[in-house]
Amino acid sequence: MPHITEIEDLRRIYQRRVPKMFYDYCESGSWTEQTFAENTSDFDDIRLRQRVAVDMSDRTVASTMIGRDVAMPVALAPVGLTGMQSADGEIKAARAAVDFGVPFTLSTMSICSIEDVAKATRAPFWFQLYVMRDEEFTDNIIQRAKNAGCDALVITLDLQILGQRHKDIKNGLSAPPKLTLPVMLDLATKWGWGLEMLGTHRRTFRNIVGHAKSVEDMSQLGSWTAEQFDPRLNWDTVARLRDKWGGKIILKGILDAEDARMAAEIGADAIVVSNHGGRQLDGALSSIRVLPSIVAAVGDQCEVWLDSGIRSGQDVLKAIAMGAKGTMIGRAYIYGLGAMGQKGVSEALRVIKAELDTTMALCGRRDIAEVDRDILLVPKGFEGEWI
Ligand code: GLV
Repeated sequence: MPHITEIEDLRRIYQRRVPKMFYDYCESGSWTEQTFAENTSDFDDIRLRQRVAVDMSDRTVASTMIGRDVAMPVALAPVGLTGMQSADGEIKAARAAVDFGVPFTLSTMSICSIEDVAKATRAPFWFQLYVMRDEEFTDNIIQRAKNAGCDALVITLDLQILGQRHKDIKNGLSAPPKLTLPVMLDLATKWGWGLEMLGTHRRTFRNIVGHAKSVEDMSQLGSWTAEQFDPRLNWDTVARLRDKWGGKIILKGILDAEDARMAAEIGADAIVVSNHGGRQLDGALSSIRVLPSIVAAVGDQCEVWLDSGIRSGQDVLKAIAMGAKGTMIGRAYIYGLGAMGQKGVSEALRVIKAELDTTMALCGRRDIAEVDRDILLVPKGFEGEWI
C-alpha cells in the first residue's frame, strides 16, 4: 500500500481510480466555485499559536457529539451517491466509522439503502433526510430509519432545489452511468472500479427505487430532484418532521444567525453550519467565517457543528477553537473510499486524528475539551463586516 501521509494523497489515487463523472460530482462546487474554494482557503488564513515547554503527555481528542462518545469530534457527513465511488460504498464507510469510533450518516440519496447498511454494521448510524413532495414517502422513510435503529435524524435544509452544478450537467451524471462513448472511453481506464461494481447489485438509489410511487428510473439526479424534492420545505415542515421522528434532530445547512435561532427554537439538538460544501449557493460565505456569529447566537442552546472545507486535522482543530462542538467531513473520506475502499476511509480518519492530535499538542493543549480561541491567530476582520 502506498504511504498515506495526508488527505491529498488519497485524493490523487481516487482521481485515477474512479470514473470522471463521479470524481467531478464530489470534487466540485456550484457555479463559479467561489464558495467551494473559499471553504478551504479561509481555513488557511487562520494561523496557529505555537506554545512551548508545556507538558504534552497523556493527550486526548475524544469528545461527545449529541451525547455520543466519539474518538474525535468528527462525524462522516451524508454524501449522495457514495456507493458509486466504490461498490457498496456506504457499507464500507459505515464499517470504517464504527471501527474508528465516529458516527456515520447515511444520505437519502445513497446507493445502499437504510436496510442494507443496518444489516451490515454493528452500531447505530444517523440518517439524513431530504424532504420529498410525496409526504407518504417522507413519513415512510422516517419510519424505516427508526426501524433500522438510527439514533439521530439529520434534516438538510439547504437543498430544496439543486444548485447549479455545471460539471454534473456536462457529464450527464447518472447512477448507474449511461454508457455513452465518452463514458465508455473513461471506464476503459477505470477497470478496477468497474470490476468491483460488477460484483454488487447495488447500483442505483436503493432508498428510493421500489419505495416511492411512480419512481422507476431516477438515474438522472438533476431531473429527479427537480421533480421530487419539496421546494415548500419551511419551519412548519421541520416541526412536523421533528414530531414524527420523536428523537434527536440535527439541522444541517445553517449559515445565518437568524436561521440558527429558528433552528434552536424548534428544538435542534445540533445544527451544522454548512454551505453544503459549496455545492448549493455559490457566493455564500465559507462556513468557518460565519461560525463565530452562529456560536454567539445559539451556542448555549444547542450544539453547533461545522462542515464544508475540512481537509485535515488542523482544520478540525481550527473549527473547534472557533467554537464548534463537532465537525463533519464529506470529501475527505470520499477520497479515501474512492482510493481504497473501507481501508481508505480508515486511513482518512487516521490521518485526520493524527494531525489533530499533533497540532493540538504543539499549540500547548492536551485535551480537546480545553481547546479555545486562544490557540489561534485569526487575522483582524476575518469574519468581515457585511452589510
Ligand atoms: C447531495 O447532497 C449533493 O450535494 O449532491
